[in-house]
Amino acid sequence: MTHTPKTIRLADYRAPDYLIHETHLHFELYDDHALVHAHLVLERNPQLDDSLPPLVLDGVKLELKHIALDDRVLGAGEYQVDEESLRLQPEKNSFTLDTTVRIEPQNNTELEGLYRSGGMFCTQCEAEGFRKITYYLDRPDVMSSFTTTLSADKQQYPVLLSNGNKIDEGEEGERHWASWEDPHKKPAYLFALVAGDLWCVEDSFTTMSGREVTLRMFVEPQNADKCQHGMDSLKKSMRWDEEVYGREYDLDIFMIVAVDDFNMGAMENKGLNIFNSSCVLAKPENSTDAAFQRIESIVAHEYFHNWSGNRVTCRDWFQLSLKEGFTVFRDAEFSADMNSRTVKRIEDVAYLRTHQFAEDAGPLAHPVRPAEYMEISNFYTLTIYEKGAEVVRMLHTLLGAELFRKGSDLYFERHDGQAVTCDDFVAAMESVSGRDLTRFKLWYSQAGTPVLQVSDSYDAEKQEYRLQVRQNCPPTPGQPVKEPMVIPLATGLLDAVTGEEVRGTQVLELTEASQEFIFTGIASQPLPSLLRGFSAPVRLEYAYSREQLAFLLAHDSDGFNRWEAGQQLAIQVFSEALTQQQNGQTPAFDPQLAQALSKVLADTQLDEALKAEIISLPSLAYLLELQTEADVANSHVVREALRLSLAQQLEQPLREIYQQLREQARATDYRPEAGQIGRRRLQNMTLSYLMLLEQDDILAACIAQFEQADNMTERMAALANLVNNPVREQAEQALAAFEQEFAVDPLVMDQWFSVQASSPLFSDTAQIRQLMQHPAFSIKNPNKVRAVLGAFSQHNLPQFHAADGSGYALLAEQVAVLDGLNPQISARMVNPLTRWQRYQPRQQQQMRAELEKLQQLPKISRDLFEVLEKSLG
Ligand code: TRP
Ligand code: ZN
Repeated sequence: MTHTPKTIRLADYRAPDYLIHETHLHFELYDDHALVHAHLVLERNPQLDDSLPPLVLDGVKLELKHIALDDRVLGAGEYQVDEESLRLQPEKNSFTLDTTVRIEPQNNTELEGLYRSGGMFCTQCEAEGFRKITYYLDRPDVMSSFTTTLSADKQQYPVLLSNGNKIDEGEEGERHWASWEDPHKKPAYLFALVAGDLWCVEDSFTTMSGREVTLRMFVEPQNADKCQHGMDSLKKSMRWDEEVYGREYDLDIFMIVAVDDFNMGAMENKGLNIFNSSCVLAKPENSTDAAFQRIESIVAHEYFHNWSGNRVTCRDWFQLSLKEGFTVFRDAEFSADMNSRTVKRIEDVAYLRTHQFAEDAGPLAHPVRPAEYMEISNFYTLTIYEKGAEVVRMLHTLLGAELFRKGSDLYFERHDGQAVTCDDFVAAMESVSGRDLTRFKLWYSQAGTPVLQVSDSYDAEKQEYRLQVRQNCPPTPGQPVKEPMVIPLATGLLDAVTGEEVRGTQVLELTEASQEFIFTGIASQPLPSLLRGFSAPVRLEYAYSREQLAFLLAHDSDGFNRWEAGQQLAIQVFSEALTQQQNGQTPAFDPQLAQALSKVLADTQLDEALKAEIISLPSLAYLLELQTEADVANSHVVREALRLSLAQQLEQPLREIYQQLREQARATDYRPEAGQIGRRRLQNMTLSYLMLLEQDDILAACIAQFEQADNMTERMAALANLVNNPVREQAEQALAAFEQEFAVDPLVMDQWFSVQASSPLFSDTAQIRQLMQHPAFSIKNPNKVRAVLGAFSQHNLPQFHAADGSGYALLAEQVAVLDGLNPQISARMVNPLTRWQRYQPRQQQQMRAELEKLQQLPKISRDLFEVLEKSLG
C-alpha cells in the first residue's frame, strides 16, 4: 500500500456501468508463471442511460501482455493501467474484450487469487481475489456465464478442475488440457480452478426429483483414508436441504478439494468447493470429536451456500451477512438435527457471548450490515457470521417455523439468479407474514449488544405476575445513540416450590425501551425462566439469587436454561472469590455450586453431553469479558482454585464417572456420533478435574489413556491434561512420543503445536519462540500460525498478558512479519491486541505501544492499516 486507503460506503452504491454476459478463460499453468487469457462479452448496463462511460476493470498485480477491443489490438494510448485498474473507452453498447496477463502463482503468499499450495494450483476469489487473476468487473452484482480451459504438465498435474461440467479435454505432448462450462451465471468471487496430482474419492447422490449427482472429493494421495466423514456429511447435507428447505442440487457433479494452505475454513465456489484440509479430512486415530463435528458443519455450510449465496447472491459486500448469517443459521440447525440440539445451542451461545459480544463492545464493532469499510476481508467477522445468524434465528422465532419456511421459499423464488440485499430477505418474510418488520431491521443497522434489565412483582390478591423489561444498547463507534429494537424474549414460569411449569414457553415481543408484561391466573409467586434457548443476542440482567439459580439448574424444563443457570451460579461464586483475591484475602467459594453440580452428576435423567456442559466452568475468556477492567492474572488464579475446590468436593462421583466411561470407551468401537461424543466429553471433563488433585493413580490413569486409546479424542484430552498440570517430565515424554508417531501428518502436528501453545503452565513466550523454530512450523501456513500464535494469544491468556509485556511484543513482531506475506492473516492475528482498552493501565500502555510500532511499519497492508486505525482511534 502506497497511500492511505479510501473508505467504501454503502450509501455510494451504484449499479455497474457495464455487464459481462460471457466470460471465457484460458489458463496456461507453468512452474514459474501462468498466462491468463480472458475473452469477455460486455454490454452497457441497459438499466442505465445510453451514454458510454469509460470501462474501468479491476486488476491487481497483473502484467498486461495483450489487449484487444472487438478483436482490434489496442495501442498504448488507448487504455490506462494503474495499480488497481485498467481503463478504456468503449465505442459501442455491446463489445468484446480480450486480455492476456502474466501472473506468478508460485510467489503468491497472500493465498488470494491463483496460488500454489503444496504441489497444486488453486484459487481463492472471495471477496476480491478474482482481480488478482485477470482484469474484470470484480463485484458480486456482475454475474456472467463462465467457460474455463486449463492447460498444464500432464505428469505433475493430472487433475484439472473448474466450475460446472467438463465439456472437453485433450493432450499436446507433455501437456494436457481440460475445458469446463458452468451453466449457472455467477459473480467472479465464485470462480475456482484446481490443478494437481490428486486422489479422487467418488460417491453419488440421488436428488428428490430422481437426478443422480456425482460426488467427488479430491485430496493428496496420503489423505485418501480421511474422506469418508466429509463425504457422509455432504450426503446428509444434501438430503437435509431438500427436506427442511425444499432445495435441490442443480448440477450433475459436486466436487470438494482439500488444500493445506488456506486463509479461512472453506469456500463455496459453484460446484467446486475448496476446503482448508483441516475442515474436511478426518479419521478417528488422527482427529478429535470436535474436528469431526466441525467438518460436518462446514461441509454443510458450504453446500448450503449453493442456494443461500450462489443461486441468490449478494448485491454488494455490505450485504455479506445476507448469505453468511443465513447460511450459519442453516448449518446450525442442520447440526442440531444431526446431534444434540441443546448441546449445539450451548456451544454456539458460549462462543457468541465470549467472542462476538467482545467484538461488539470494542473498537472494531460494526453492524450486521456495515455502512462502510476499507478492506472487505476484515469484515468476515463474528458479527457478520454469528450475530447475523442470530438475527435470522430471531426472524424464525418471531414468525414460527412454518411461516419462516414460506418466507425462505418466496425469497429463493423471487430472487433466483439475482444479486440482492438484506432488505430483500426481510421483505420476503414480510410478504408471507403480513408483518411490518421495519423496526426489526434495526438489527441490521445498529451495532452493539442490547442489555435487558428485567424485574418482576407478584400480586397474590389479583393472582397477577408482572415482568418489567427495559432495554438499552450501549454506544458503539459512530453510533452514540440507539433506538429500541424488536427483541423476542422467550419466557416460561416455574412454580417456585415444586419446580413444575406453570406457564410454558411464550415469546414476549419487546419493541419499546420499557415495557410490562402481565400474566394472570398465577396462583403463587413463580420463578421466571427468561430468554429460553437464548432467544435473542442480548445481555440479560435479572437479580437471581444463588438459591434460585440452583433451583432452575435442577428443575427448568428448558435444557439450555438449566445450563445457563449453572453458568450464572458459577459466575456469582467466582466473582465473589475474585473480589476477595483482589483485596488480598484468600478466596472462599460458596459450597452451593458444588452441591448443585453434585446433584447434576447424580441425575440419571440427564444425558452425559449435557452433564459435561453443565460441569464446565465458564471459560477464562468469558469471565474476563464480563469484567469492566479485565484482571487476567487474578481471574486465572481464582478460576483454577475454584476448579480444584470442585474437584475436591466432587472427587467420589468424578472418579466413578471417569472409570465407568473410560471402561465403556475401551469396550466400544469409536464412532463420531452424538451419544459417544457426549460420553467422551464427560469422561475427559471429569479427568481434567481429577488431575488437579495431583494423585498418583489418577496420573497413571491419564497416562494409560494417552498410551492405550485408539482415538484422538481420548489421546488428545490425556495429552492436554499432562501438559496443563505440573508433571512436566511426563508431559514431555508424551509430547515426544506423539511427535514421533504423527510427524508426517501436518493436521495432527497442528494439534500438537496448539496443545502446548495454549498451556499457561507449559508455554511462556520463550517456549512459543521454540515452537516456531520447529521444522513442522511455517509462518506461511495459516493453520500453523493459528496453532501456535493464535492458540497462544487466545487460549494462553496468563502468558500472553505476562506482566513484562513479552507476550504482546512477540505477537506484534510476528504480525509485522505476517503482514509482508499474508495481510488477511496479519489483520486477524493482531486482533487480541486491539482490545487494549479492556485491560489494566500498564497493560494498556504496553499493548498500545506495540500497535503504534506496527503503525510505523514502512510498508503496511490495507487490511492491517484499517484494524490499527480503528483500534487506536
Ligand atoms: N464464503 C466463505 C464461507 O463459507 C468464506 C471464505 C473462505 C473467505 N475463504 C475466504 C472469505 C477468504 C474471505 C477470504 O464462509
Ligand atoms: Zn459462508
